[in-house]
Amino acid sequence: MSERYAVIGNPVAHSKSPQIHAAFARATHQDIDYGCIEAPLDGFAQAVEHWRRSGGKGLNVTLPFKHEAFGLCDRVSERARLAQAVNTMRLDDSFGDNTDGIGLVRDLAGNLGLSLHGKAILLLGAGGAAQGVAGALLEAGVSRLVIANRAVAKAEALTARLPGASACGYDALAGQRFDLVINATSAGLTDESPPLPAGVLNPACIAYEMVYGRDTPFLSAARSAGARAFDGLGMLVEQAAESFFIWRGVRPATRPVLAALRGA
Ligand code: ATR
Repeated sequence: MSERYAVIGNPVAHSKSPQIHAAFARATHQDIDYGCIEAPLDGFAQAVEHWRRSGGKGLNVTLPFKHEAFGLCDRVSERARLAQAVNTMRLDDSFGDNTDGIGLVRDLAGNLGLSLHGKAILLLGAGGAAQGVAGALLEAGVSRLVIANRAVAKAEALTARLPGASACGYDALAGQRFDLVINATSAGLTDESPPLPAGVLNPACIAYEMVYGRDTPFLSAARSAGARAFDGLGMLVEQAAESFFIWRGVRPATRPVLAALRGA
């Protein structure tokens, strides 16, 4: 019988994870069934327990439950501990991991050919999305990691766990230049853009929007400023591949799946 996995979130109906994992399973001949669970906002722990008791082997966790998932696991990886968030649960041994950061780094380095070593990086936002990736960016050998957020205290709380990164508000970015600007805010979901001073996006920088599937104001602002701009679809596929590896011990090829999603 197929082993069962699912993505759990709220809302979750729009998720591309079932499609991605079904493609990985076909390509690697793994007999799995991957579904979608919309948990009530106040019923995440119960939904996970129900899934485990009914034989579910693992879960991908998405908004807004990644922090709660971190608290539910008996054991978590170092990268999940740094992020204080879990996006991959293996239920047999109650293990939690976070594959968002490695997903972003693999998309940048592998799919887009952008080496991060020695680069100056600006990370916008200090919520769950930024927390998930900041540690992996530092590990990739960047020369500078600045985390900017409207609520500066939230960025400072994040950099306190990340020696080597610094925190600031948006105004303090005026006149500064970075090789790569990553938007990890949720502003794009409401068609807003983080309040970047003019010049931060420029023809010499690369802009990366972690939101995917929509042309956000950040992406259009980056293109208007002459920057090369990319969305987060590649990161989605790469983080999924790492989750698949954690569950199944097999590393699926990501390029064909990404190409199919882009084609669609
Ligand atoms: P998530 O888990 O998706 O990151 P979150 O924890 O609510 O969600 O964090 C949302 C992030 O997007 C925060 O960094 C938030 O900034 P503040 O902490 O200053 O509120 C940021 N954000 C949301 N809308 C924004 C906007 N219009 N401009 C700039 N930042 C925005």
